[in-house]
Amino acid sequence: MSRSWWSGLLDHFTDISHEGRSFDETWGTRTCAFDLGNYEPTRPSVVTSALDAVDLGPQGASFVDLGSGKGRVALMASQRPYDRVVGVEHRQRLHQVAQENLASFRSRGGCTCEVHLMCADAANQPLPEGPLVLFVFNSFPPNVLVPLLQRVAGCGVDARLVYVNPQHDGVVSALGWRCVAMDDTSEDPGWEWRIYAVPGGRP
Ligand SMILES: C[S@@+](CC[C@H](N)C(=O)[O-])C[C@H]1O[C@@H](n2cnc3c(N)ncnc32)[C@H](O)[C@@H]1O
Repeated sequence: MSRSWWSGLLDHFTDISHEGRSFDETWGTRTCAFDLGNYEPTRPSVVTSALDAVDLGPQGASFVDLGSGKGRVALMASQRPYDRVVGVEHRQRLHQVAQENLASFRSRGGCTCEVHLMCADAANQPLPEGPLVLFVFNSFPPNVLVPLLQRVAGCGVDARLVYVNPQHDGVVSALGWRCVAMDDTSEDPGWEWRIYAVPGGRP
């Protein structure tokens, strides 16, 4: 399940030559290329299959990509009828590229809902009110993930966590988040995903 530096490098080239490049060509964006400092975009097909499996919203819910990098996931989510989409990225340089990508995506008619990109630490960022779909791909160690998920559970809202490459799945389950869907069938290690429901959420 863990992704090595080498598999990240291979993904960089396959992403550029296939799905990721095609996404960027369509929307005039620059979301490809992993970056020193833990930026690597989720493959478009992985985003699509995981979001298709979410059993909450999108109408009436907000989507939040925690660690949004250059914005690919937030842009893809904005093509669905969420009430709003939020991307939170703490690195200014990546946030700046994400804003440029959003402008291009909008100008080509890509967004069907409100999108807010913020340059902030996701650990402290206030979350939208109401039902939430959270997205996490390789962003956080347990010392960030745990208080964040506890904060969401404490709000009493219905929420789902879409967790790609769920390296800390044991930590999530130990907090009472219940796995409601998964794709462990990927032939490429590291592209598995799981969807968790908030403790106390609707069955
Ligand atoms: C592997 S990338 C995923 C990017 C995007 N979510 C995607 O799936 O295409 C993880 C991102 O999380 C960001 N990140 C890590 N810790 C963060 C934090 N505490 N607050 C905000 N962003 C963070 C990194 O800078 C990086 O851009």
